[in-house]
Amino acid sequence: MNDLDFASWMSQIQRRTEVALEQHLPRTDVLPEQLHEAMRYATLGGGKRVRALLAHAAGEITEAAPERVDIVASSIELIHAYSLVHDDMPCMDNDVLRRGKPTVHVRFDEATALLAGDALQTLAFQLLAENRVTESVGDQLAMIALLASASGSRGMAGGQAIDLGSVGRQIELETLELMHIHKTGALIRASIVLGARCGPRIEPGTLSRLDHFGKVVGLLFQVVDDILDLQSDTATLGKTAGKDAESEKPTYVSLLGLHGARQLADDLLEQARSTLTPFGLQARRLDELASFIVARKY
Ligand code: IPE
Ligand code: IPE
Ligand code: MG
Ligand code: MG
Ligand code: MG
Repeated sequence: MNDLDFASWMSQIQRRTEVALEQHLPRTDVLPEQLHEAMRYATLGGGKRVRALLAHAAGEITEAAPERVDIVASSIELIHAYSLVHDDMPCMDNDVLRRGKPTVHVRFDEATALLAGDALQTLAFQLLAENRVTESVGDQLAMIALLASASGSRGMAGGQAIDLGSVGRQIELETLELMHIHKTGALIRASIVLGARCGPRIEPGTLSRLDHFGKVVGLLFQVVDDILDLQSDTATLGKTAGKDAESEKPTYVSLLGLHGARQLADDLLEQARSTLTPFGLQARRLDELASFIVARKY
């Protein structure tokens, strides 16, 4: 697939991710129908699939079989979809629009949104436990543990707690970085490492280098999310613009200003790209994705 231009490669991965998710999600004619409908509503037919793209791009470096990466990518997209369903609920960000559609608690109800998030999360782990993604069972267990820690209180959920705890407060830049690295960075970082771990050709130093790249790109992703919240509009974003300022959320824009946040994004992009240099052409997709994350409009 290396001869494809970036846009074609991206739509190809997005399509195969959609097919994989569609296959793994429970059907809506199976009980409890409404819960299954909500799980599918939250996951299918939207989203940039950045985490799946990162997993496949990292898998190219270790020559991973794309079918194995599909499992990892689906697991991560399921966790991500669950995090969005809960993030939008009235007890968290109280948002009514996501991916251009009413949020799950608006379209269904709060209890269904809560349960859909719960069930998406457990489905992610079921997928990773039931499908072989690497040769050694011990390695596969380590991968499941990595996804768990990236999602839990020392990862995404922990970052979300810091986020909610800092509403309306002045926080230090260090705390903001910690919050972003956890709430968004942890899962992005895990996508890259897990994608790479599906492959057989893992040279010494590869995983730690990719982990570092993932840490920088994860932070970068949320810095850009903060910028877009202020700079973009609701129709383009598919979610309500201007929510961070309205909800008194500390963000890179509120702490550094728009110009400072843009500058930081450019610095992080450069840092991320330089991490990839030793991989040469094999890191082409990761490099293109890092640039896409900064240039994206939604
Ligand atoms: C939005 O993530 C929430 C954050 C972690 C910033 P994305 O921007 O990746 O959302 P989708 O999946 O494309 O909708
Ligand atoms: C969300 O951060 C991070 C998650 C873990 C879902 P935001 O609250 O900024 O994400 P959006 O802007 O609602 O997508
Ligand atoms: Mg939030
Ligand atoms: Mg939110
Ligand atoms: Mg945001």
